[in-house]
Amino acid sequence: MRLLVTGGCGFIGANFLYAMRQNHPDWLLVNLDKLTYAGNPGSLRALEAEAGAAYVFVHGDICDRPLVERVLAEHRIEAVVNFAAESHVDRSIDDPAPFVVTNVLGAQNILDCARRAKIARVVHVSTDEVYGSLGPEGQFRETTPLAPNSPYSASKAGADMLARAYHETYGQDVVVTRCSNNYGPYQFPEKLIPLMYTRAIAGEPLPVYGDGQNVRDWIFVGDHCRGVELALLKGRAGAVYNFGGASEMANIDVVRTVLRLTGQDESLIRFVADRPGHDRRYAMNFDLAARELGFAPSVSFAAGMERTIAWYQANSVWLDEVRSGAYRAFMDKWYGGRA
Ligand code: NAD
Ligand code: DAU
Repeated sequence: MRLLVTGGCGFIGANFLYAMRQNHPDWLLVNLDKLTYAGNPGSLRALEAEAGAAYVFVHGDICDRPLVERVLAEHRIEAVVNFAAESHVDRSIDDPAPFVVTNVLGAQNILDCARRAKIARVVHVSTDEVYGSLGPEGQFRETTPLAPNSPYSASKAGADMLARAYHETYGQDVVVTRCSNNYGPYQFPEKLIPLMYTRAIAGEPLPVYGDGQNVRDWIFVGDHCRGVELALLKGRAGAVYNFGGASEMANIDVVRTVLRLTGQDESLIRFVADRPGHDRRYAMNFDLAARELGFAPSVSFAAGMERTIAWYQANSVWLDEVRSGAYRAFMDKWYGGRA
């Protein structure tokens, strides 16, 4: 297959590219990435070295219509997986505009260029956050009404609606995937687990929002990548598939796990002002993906966390590289008034 992956220099996109190279060495992998603060071409150095001509990097924006048209034509692309997005909820609270541009207009541009180029399939990678927040019981299903609460999740829901509309209106082959919270290698240290890791090893305070009892359903990134691969290969046109890790955890317990694995003390924990509009609980029902795609998470939270912390311990150079410039500026602004 000749596959265009967008946002491949980000956390999940990079893991996905490595997995596709391993599982399908005969595929052409083209990665279109704008290299925002979250995009790191260094994450793909090993892939670049190993894959040779089977991997192509294009530096550019998914909103750039002539560029996307050119990439699809020049590489005779057969399918697209759209990971590219502004992905951090806190940043979307600070400044929603870039989220609407990339996550809505960029996704629409990908859909439209793919439709006109008669691309066989677009997999649009979305999130459980489009469903909003759960109480103490229940799970999100694909039929749960969308009720996004942050500018980030609202922009992702906008793209999901466009994906649906392109399928219904034009008969385009689009599959939407919605996954819960990922963790694992190459995750940018603004997200909970790598942020707590970097702070813990530096002996710095760990800022836990609110009462620390918000619940997320954690999935090891490799399991999410497998789900997206299955959606690409076996998904039903027009379908939406939930993926989850069957691993619900309160934030405070995730933070305690990081402290235990880094040998640090719980006295580093600081309860700070809550995130505005903070969703209380997410939990995913992925029966449909299990039934139609054969999806099942394979890595337990305990095993996944050991692998993740070991990866960060072995990759301190990667962490130092990504924690520069724009990263520092946002962290100072956001946490300056909190921790
Ligand atoms: P990330 O922030 O680590 O990476 C995003 C990547 O997209 C970066 O490489 C960035 O440079 C690139 N990008 C941003 N804007 C772009 C643009 N306009 N054109 C081209 N490239 C652009 O994000 P992630 O955590 O890897 O998430 C990837 C996707 O998965 C997103 O669509 C996100 O909504 C979704 N998702 C993430 C999670 C999670 O837990 N991280 C869970 C479910 C779904
Ligand atoms: O659920 C899927 C989503 O998971 C993805 O769509 C998003 O792209 C991804 O960023 C992630 O969103 P969250 O907001 O759930 O992830 P984050 O790591 O930012 O926060 C996880 C939980 O930890 C959340 O309840 C907020 C809390 N938190 C986060 C940070 C950064 C803290 O308590 N302190 C912090 O400093």
